[in-house]
Amino acid sequence: MSRLVYVLNGPNLNLLGKRQPHIYGHDTMEDVEADCRKVAKAHGLEIRYHQSNREYELIDWIHEARETAGGIVINAGAFTHTSVAILDALNAFDGIVMEVHISNVHKRESFRHHSYISLRAEGVIVGCGIQGYGLALQRIAALLDAKKG
Ligand code: DQA
Repeated sequence: MSRLVYVLNGPNLNLLGKRQPHIYGHDTMEDVEADCRKVAKAHGLEIRYHQSNREYELIDWIHEARETAGGIVINAGAFTHTSVAILDALNAFDGIVMEVHISNVHKRESFRHHSYISLRAEGVIVGCGIQGYGLALQRIAALLDAKKG
């Protein structure tokens, strides 16, 4: 299976480092991308890294991943809790899906406790800050290695 992984970020995550730093910390989307590239390189993965505030763009990238990628790491932001359309797109993807949330959504408002994406994800990493992205990539690399072996 392809070692290309899409790392997808949903709405408001472009403001990472500026919005509610007591919840999301001071690191920026650029810091997350740099971290992902470092972890990906160490584990022999190639990544395509994207952020959008638009649901359809996330769906289009998931469709693109269908053709090319072995895995998707997705932090869909608030779409996590609302988007059947993103779930449907992920269900049309055959590779490994890892869901990430920077904050511990289970410690927060009850509307954040439900995730449509969890219905599809192989694994979920919450509350580990931006480190969660690297952990998700490591997990995808391990699962891809296991499939190969
Ligand atoms: C988030 C949690 C979501 O509930 C929220 O809407 C976000 C970020 C996180 O990374 O902790 O935008 O996905």
